[in-house]
Amino acid sequence: MPPVLLLVLAASLVALPSCRSLPVQAPVTKDPATSLYTIPFHDGASLVLDAAGPLVWSTCEAGQPPAGIPCGSPTCLLANAYPAPGCPAPTCGSDKPCTAFPSNPVTGACAAGSLFHTSFVANTTDGTKPVSEVKVGVLAACAPSKLLASLPRGSTGVAGLANSGLALPAQVASAQKVANRFFLCLPTGGAGVAIFGGGPLPWPQFTQSMPYTPLVTKGGSPAHYISLKSIKVDNTRVPVSEATGGVMLSTRLPYALLRRDVYRPLVDAFTKALAAQPANGAPVARAVQPVAPFGVCYDTKTLGNNLGGYAVPNVLLALDGGGEWAMTGKNSMVDVKPGTACVAFVEMKGVEAGDGRAPAVILGGAQMEDFVLDFDMEKKRLGFTRLPHFTGCGSA
Ligand SMILES: *[C@@H]1O[C@H](CO)[C@@H](O)[C@H](O)[C@H]1NC(C)=O
Repeated sequence: MPPVLLLVLAASLVALPSCRSLPVQAPVTKDPATSLYTIPFHDGASLVLDAAGPLVWSTCEAGQPPAGIPCGSPTCLLANAYPAPGCPAPTCGSDKPCTAFPSNPVTGACAAGSLFHTSFVANTTDGTKPVSEVKVGVLAACAPSKLLASLPRGSTGVAGLANSGLALPAQVASAQKVANRFFLCLPTGGAGVAIFGGGPLPWPQFTQSMPYTPLVTKGGSPAHYISLKSIKVDNTRVPVSEATGGVMLSTRLPYALLRRDVYRPLVDAFTKALAAQPANGAPVARAVQPVAPFGVCYDTKTLGNNLGGYAVPNVLLALDGGGEWAMTGKNSMVDVKPGTACVAFVEMKGVEAGDGRAPAVILGGAQMEDFVLDFDMEKKRLGFTRLPHFTGCGSA
């Protein structure tokens, strides 16, 4: 081989490690008024995270030209791959530009909008510190400002994190040449973090041996689902007949929704186990008038406390793959008003018991906060681990 070629070869080998693209990190904030989570997008604007959202959408800046994407193009098909329930079906004339139908994850309202080029400004990370600021080109759907109803003040749209081609993780992956994978640590109060594109992570000591469960898809939905094998309260198995329908992960609900066939047995087992605790010296929990939408609430003065929050029975979701999603009082109780805390499991409305078309369980913010979640869409698996009580997402 001529020496020049050898030199080129050697240089490219040396250059390899620094060429590897770094993941992109953004801080996650919980809005106290809505319990929704936001990330900065650009220029002071922020977007609401929606784990089940298939698009990035935002109000358009004045004079923002549409991206000129033709209706019927593959990109337009991606934008309309998951029509939200109740939104009009896109109609496509060959000469027309692409119309998308962004929808509000809280109200369910939707609107027609064109696609436009915008950018997500964030820092790349080496796992411990920001490395450099990047402007990631993103295709977003343009929404009228009325679509922002019920979203946090200051937010200008939604960052969908679902498993779809125009969700934020997939767009960061193709623009930055990183994996279609993101880590999420939702905060209870302080700073949380979202990392797009893979590791290294800020908490290797806690995440290197985290359990994984397969990420599954459910017909017609871009949301992330996992499979439930059984539920335990403390060490007792809850008699749930059949957990068909899976577990959906939602960042738009502050608490969990359970299908009736799961809700009744779980809440019965939970209240029974709580009522049995005084035998071991715990205080007698006094039930109070429930506060909607919750079905079971307690006087907080009659609940014990420990590092895991209120000292209530642990709820364990045994997942496909062998891991257990363990919930302490921090995940199973919510403070609804001074002196009253409610069981953070609410019965789903409008769904028949056992109807596998609906998820058996939808986990909300309370169940996911202070967990590191690894949504790996390339390996189709979800990693999950709780950060210890003395740390939190913010130690990133
Ligand atoms: C990137 O990191 C620098 C240094 O920590 C910080 O000043 C800047 O605000 C960060 N940029 C973004 C978009 O987060």
